Amino acid sequence: MSTPSYVPWTEKHKPRSIAEIKEIVGEAEYIDSFVSWLRNWKPGDKAALLYGPPGVGKTLLVEVVAKEFGYELFQLNASDTRTEAALRRLVGQSSKTVSLYGSKGKLIFLDEIDGLYGVGEADAVKAIVELIKESRVPIVMAANDPWDPKLRPLREVSVMIEFKRLRSSSIIKHLKKICAKEGIMADERALKIVAELAEGDMRSAVNDLQAAAQGKKRLTVNDVSWLRARNRQYQAFDVLRMLFAAKRCDDARNVVNSSLLDYETLMLWIDENLPRQYTDPEELAKAYYYLARADVFLGRMNRGQKWELLKYIIDFMTAGVAMSKIHPYRFTKYGFPQKILLLAKAKGTRAIRESICEKVASKCHLSKRKASTEIMPFLHVMFEAPGLAKHDVSRWLGLDESMEEFLKKHR
Ligand SMILES: Nc1ncnc2c1ncn2[C@@H]1O[C@H](COP(=O)(O)OP(=O)(O)O)[C@@H](O)[C@H]1O
Ligand SMILES: [Mg+2]
Repeated sequence: MSTPSYVPWTEKHKPRSIAEIKEIVGEAEYIDSFVSWLRNWKPGDKAALLYGPPGVGKTLLVEVVAKEFGYELFQLNASDTRTEAALRRLVGQSSKTVSLYGSKGKLIFLDEIDGLYGVGEADAVKAIVELIKESRVPIVMAANDPWDPKLRPLREVSVMIEFKRLRSSSIIKHLKKICAKEGIMADERALKIVAELAEGDMRSAVNDLQAAAQGKKRLTVNDVSWLRARNRQYQAFDVLRMLFAAKRCDDARNVVNSSLLDYETLMLWIDENLPRQYTDPEELAKAYYYLARADVFLGRMNRGQKWELLKYIIDFMTAGVAMSKIHPYRFTKYGFPQKILLLAKAKGTRAIRESICEKVASKCHLSKRKASTEIMPFLHVMFEAPGLAKHDVSRWLGLDESMEEFLKKHR
């Protein structure tokens, strides 16, 4: 294909007609409801409010239907139009233009209506309600969450049309089509993984597919496995945030239950991110004390099969760590999930990595932490690539075989 590679596949492979959408999602009530609302609309009728999770084709359907029925779309994204004044000006103009020419061919589309926020949002809602009542052309809106109390006045003047998460099978169908057009042989299982991770969100599925498959002739399960790791990382970020923000012991403990991470992995995450979250030495010392206790108990539990110790381990690493907090929780960027995932996966790699960092630190006169964050990534790249100066570097640093192996494999 000659299309330049920076075109997002969500654009390039977007369905262009109602039939094409139906080919993917099957016969769908929401499509028919919207079409019949539009065809039957006359001045004084309700607006349409399309709602449902992101990436399920709300914006897409409006665009496609407008095109197919020959409407000129007058499209506004509500989250770009924060003040009532701006909104009023924009919609005012269009409705006037419309009434002036008595044109029937326009469709006003207020997208992401739940993105209205801040000062004047109530006025904006009022302005839209007025517009809906006066308009001589149909108005359609879209929202992720239409149940927001501030949108209530809009719900009252709208026909509500619900979009659900897309089925995995629909997503797979679309992904297959894209692969065919891009000349990629894709394993069914790989597509299945992409589709399932997207949880009904076509935009995210297509974006993931592009990230994993673009430029390839084949797409295997291996090519998409990192997507899963990435999702787990998000999981861990959320878990850490809940943990560090917990105000009560119970809330902190519950974090373990609500997470997919096992406690050993969670411990690594906490260990890595404690110094990012807690900057006051007193907090940090206390939190490390509890984490160390958890680690000691973990050792005892594993050595002696004393499973009854687990509850103490969990208490120490959750409640203990969370209650060490002196200052209020503040937003923190958590770090280096990849490394931790790898450490969790491969026993022993942690020690190897440590000793590489030690060598780098002493040779380069850096702290181990700097060596870890700033030099290690380059070493990984260097050792993965064929050629380059890795042998010289390895000799200079005094790396042994296991360390070289580690740098090659464990990015
Ligand atoms: N039913 C669908 N069939 C094929 N592609 C879809 C479908 N729904 C969404 N997409 C893809 O996902 C992208 C995002 O959809 P969009 O309509 O913007 O989602 P929403 O407005 O619901 O957040 C579209 O550009 C299109 O590429
Ligand atoms: Mg949209």
